[in-house]
This record gives sequence, structure tokens and C-alpha cells, in this order.
Amino acid sequence: MARSSSGAAPKSIAPATGRLGILTPGLGAVATTFMAGVESIRRGRSKPIGSLTQMATIRLGKRTDKRAPLIKDFVPLAKLDDIVFGAWDPIPDDALTAAKKAGVLEDKDIEPIADFLRASSDAGGVRQPLCHPHSRHEREEGKDEARSGGAAAPGHARFQGEEQCDRLVIVWCASTEIYIKAGPQHATIEQFEKAMDKNDEAIAPSMLYAYAAIMEGIPFCNGAPNLCVDTPALLKLAQDKGVPISGKDFKTGQTWMKTVVAPGLKAACSVSRAGIRPTSWVTATERCWMIPSRQDKGGVEAQRAAHDLAARPLSRSLQGFTHVVRINYYPPRGDNKEGWDNIDIVGWMNYPMQIKINVLCRDSILAAPIVLDLALFSDFAHRAGMKGIQEWLSFYYKSPMTAPGLQPEHDLFIQQTKLKNTLRHLMGEDQITHLGLEYYA
Ligand SMILES: NC(=O)c1ccc[n+]([C@@H]2O[C@H](COP(=O)([O-])OP(=O)(O)OC[C@H]3O[C@@H](n4cnc5c(N)ncnc54)[C@H](O)[C@@H]3O)[C@@H](O)[C@H]2O)c1
Repeated sequence: MARSSSGAAPKSIAPATGRLGILTPGLGAVATTFMAGVESIRRGRSKPIGSLTQMATIRLGKRTDKRAPLIKDFVPLAKLDDIVFGAWDPIPDDALTAAKKAGVLEDKDIEPIADFLRASSDAGGVRQPLCHPHSRHEREEGKDEARSGGAAAPGHARFQGEEQCDRLVIVWCASTEIYIKAGPQHATIEQFEKAMDKNDEAIAPSMLYAYAAIMEGIPFCNGAPNLCVDTPALLKLAQDKGVPISGKDFKTGQTWMKTVVAPGLKAACSVSRAGIRPTSWVTATERCWMIPSRQDKGGVEAQRAAHDLAARPLSRSLQGFTHVVRINYYPPRGDNKEGWDNIDIVGWMNYPMQIKINVLCRDSILAAPIVLDLALFSDFAHRAGMKGIQEWLSFYYKSPMTAPGLQPEHDLFIQQTKLKNTLRHLMGEDQITHLGLEYYA
């Protein structure tokens, strides 16, 4: 294995042998698009477009070394052929029906893998539903089994045994939950367990999944904006049990575009206070779902918060910067969203200019490769002995989790550097600082 010029040895990393089970609470638009996509790739019908683990390269050593392998050839990740899928959902549809209902993929892409989605035994298909911790009975079963070291949540152990998985990873792809503020119930693991025993409303289903996963040593990723694993109690538990966790909220769509543009504008204005300077940013976005429920209100608030976080590199560095976000209900386009941004900027000699961005994206098409990468990297991190918050996976999240007291990093390019440098670090390669003076000595 490689050794850096500074002599750093690669970390000891267990090989990715055997089968990896990727389990998703939720079998809706994101989960079915992810699973159908992986199967299409395995059958040679598609390419893993958008997946860093499958398509991106990583530079190693000096530029003159001309070493830039694919990440999947550099890092020991599970192979797509070794993945098996399972899901929980209170709606008892198989993945074929769920994919059709989600309306993301067209029949021409679904029909050729219908046997897999329908979970026919010879197609090694998606196991669904496991069961879900919705009912009181199942919640009881889940936490008791988790505590006794049996199954991580109802169905886990059975799935692992029947599918002969060597390892499991869980990625939360279920609906966004009602907003819950972190309270005393989430402060310590003892208080968390007490609250769980009392069926306290402050313990959301996603927390139960996360708790059970961590107790069983299963890496857990949270793709939704809800609090879930981002509490002191579960963070401590993940540290103690040696389990990687990460979150929150897959970075897709208009907020993803914002995290691309905002650091660029920040760089432009920080060259000089008299340089290009954004003065305001107005975002209008449409979404297909908005029902007058508490849960949906949580979703809208989370979306607004995600926009604020994406623009944070600017709002932090500019006085008087105005950021307005408007979210409209517009169902006809389903998963295909449209967003409009107007950014007012001021340039040389105070001349005003404008930037207009029109984003027409398909949410689940952007989210699916993120689910794949998070699952593969989290499994890798676990085999490399990493535990607790995986800040290097911030690249994939709108609201990245960090150690208490740290400001999250929202600049996509710093997040990307952090991710690649973490891979280099774990594999015993030199960090790339982009200093580059050695080429001019
Ligand atoms: N699509 C994107 O680009 C994107 C981006 C960021 C975050 N997300 C998040 O990903 C999640 C999934 O999005 P989606 O578009 O697939 O939603 P969806 O509505 O299509 O699917 C969600 C599924 O979760 C199920 N569910 C609800 N509560 C559950 C529970 N407790 N256990 C198990 N299943 C449960 C629902 O029955 C539904 O089938 C959402 O939380 C969303 O906020 C999506």
C-alpha cells in the first residue's frame, strides 16, 4: 500500500469482503430511484452519473506524478455487485409499485429491472417491507431488541442473516419529521432512554432507528433535515460504540447550486471590499408538496433554513446583505423542481449588476448518487475505525453536523478538499495543500 513522502502509514482498514446491506427507512422517491439506479448500473443499462465514489478521480502526490486514480480504485469500497437492499416503510408497497408511484423514473427504465424491484428471489431484489417502528408495539420491540443486543430495529437481524450480509449501513430516506428542538431528553443517553421508555414525543421515529443502529454498530446517515442523530445523547453513543454517523439533509437542487455560487461570490468580494459585492439574493422556488400539517410546516422551515445555510458564506462576511427566500406550492411537476435566483451585485466604481439563475432539477436524480456515496463511504469509515460525526462527508449535506462548538463549513469546495484529503490521510498519501511552490524552486 502507498506511503506518503512524509512517511505517514496508511490506516489499517478492514477489507470490503462479503455483502453490504444498505437499508433505508423510507421507500419513496429517493430510495427507489437510488436502488433502481444501482441495479441498472449493475446490469450495464446505465452509468453511475453523479456518484463521486464511482466516477470521480483523486489526485495523488505532485502534479508531475500524474497519478489520478478513480476513487473506487484507490479506496477499498464495497463493490456495487456486493450490495443488497432493504427498506422499511409504513406503506406496504414493493419497490416496483413504490417507484411507479414516486413518478421519478420512466417505465422504460423501470420495466427492465421490474423483477429486481418486485424482489423476486432469483433477481436478488429489494427486500421490503421490513417492518417499521411506527406502532407502539413495534417501537417497543425495536428498542428492546436493540438494548438486548438482538436486532438493531425490527427486521435487521433477520435481514442480515437471510441476505448473508457481512455489514449493514442505514441511510434515512423517510419523510421529513415534525420539527423537534433538542431538549433535556436528548442531552444524555440515560435521559434519552428514559424518554424512549415513556414514549415521549420528543423521541421521533428517526431517533429510534438511529439509536438502534448505533447500538448494533451500524453506520447511520440522515438524509432529512430533522434532528434525528444530531443530539448530544446519540453523538456520545456513536463515539462510545465506535460507529460513524453523519447528517443532515441531502445537498440537492437549488440549495446545492447556492453552495456552488455563494463561495465564488465570497471569493470575489473578499479580494477587496471594493471588489464585486453581492448586496442581496432573492430566491423563489416551487415544490410539489405542501399540505397544511405540522410535519409539512417543518419541511418548509427546514428548506428555508437550508437556503440560509447555503448563503451563509456571504451573510457572514457581508454587512447589510439581504437574503429573501420564497417557497411556493406548485404540484404539476412532481419531483422536477424549478427555482429562480436573482443576485444583485455591485462592481467596479459601484456599478450595479445582476446574476439570474434558473435551476430546473430533478430532486431524486440528484439525491440517489448521494445515498450511494454516503453508504459506501460510511461503511469504509467504519472499517477504517472512524467513529462519531464524519465531518468529511459534509460535502453531501445541506446542514452538516460538526463537533459541538465548531462552525459547520458550508463552502462546497472546502468540503470537497476535506473529503479528498481525508481519503488521502486514511490511505497514507500526502495531503494536497495546493501550495505548489515546489514547482518553482
Ligand atoms: N429528493 C431530494 O432531493 C431530497 C433532498 C434532501 C433531502 N431529502 C429528504 O429525503 C427524504 C425522502 O425524500 P423522498 O422524496 O423520497 O420522499 P417520499 O415522500 O417520496 O418518501 C418518503 C417515504 O418515507 C416513508 N416514511 C415516513 N415515515 C416513515 C418512518 N417512520 N419509517 C419508515 N418510512 C417512513 C413514507 O411512507 C414514504 O414512502 C425526505 O426526508 C426528504 O426531506 C430529499
